[in-house]
Amino acid sequence: MGGQRLRGVIALDGPSGTGKSTAARRLAERLGAAYLDTGAMYRAATLAVLRAELDPSSPAAVPTAVAAGIAVGTDPVRPTVRLAGEDVAEEIRGPEVTGAVSAVSAHQQVRDRLVGLQRDIIHEAAAAGGIVVEGRDIGTVVAPDAPLKVYLTASDRVRAGRRDDQDRRAGRTTDLASTLVAVRRRDELDSGRAVSPLRPAADAVTLDTSELDLDGVLGALLALVAERGLAD
Ligand code: DC
Repeated sequence: MGGQRLRGVIALDGPSGTGKSTAARRLAERLGAAYLDTGAMYRAATLAVLRAELDPSSPAAVPTAVAAGIAVGTDPVRPTVRLAGEDVAEEIRGPEVTGAVSAVSAHQQVRDRLVGLQRDIIHEAAAAGGIVVEGRDIGTVVAPDAPLKVYLTASDRVRAGRRDDQDRRAGRTTDLASTLVAVRRRDELDSGRAVSPLRPAADAVTLDTSELDLDGVLGALLALVAERGLAD
């Protein structure tokens, strides 16, 4: 399958811990495509809010989040995230940002701003070939015309276990029970919010990754790409 090139946009949505990020990056690499991690943009906006010592859920946080100089690189081999030129790729994965990001991403004006930036990036990358975009609202809001939309799911226990492994590998202190509570809380916030709640697009393919390893997820995604004739 080497040498295949994606044409157009693939939208990958779903909650955290479904293997979405790794699968999206690998898929983009495999298909010679660009890769966009929209969650990293919400995380960078959240970091700007926390650095300004603002309450993430207050409307007072909105101007700071909207004006934050967020720049993301779309190379799947080395994705980058910058805030006013500073590399924040590591800091945005820390517990402070993770705990506040749902609140910041629930502000409609923040979403409008980031969705605008995301569409610009997608437009440019799609004109040059293809792009794999991961997030929560890509199939429903950001790129509703994407020719392939996949909604990844997995049981909350499996997702908490994966998040726990990830944190441990990154050298962060972990505790599976509290990770499970945090995963459930974030699911509730992301699915229950008024603006762009997490849900599959009507025409999305749902892929349950509970029993799949990375190769299994990648294989299923590549099969869908082939089925739709999206790669040359
Ligand atoms: O994928 P992630 O865990 O890095 O995403 C961080 C948060 O950002 C997540 O809690 C929900 C939010 N998010 C969003 O609201 N819309 C997106 N397209 C991507 C992420």
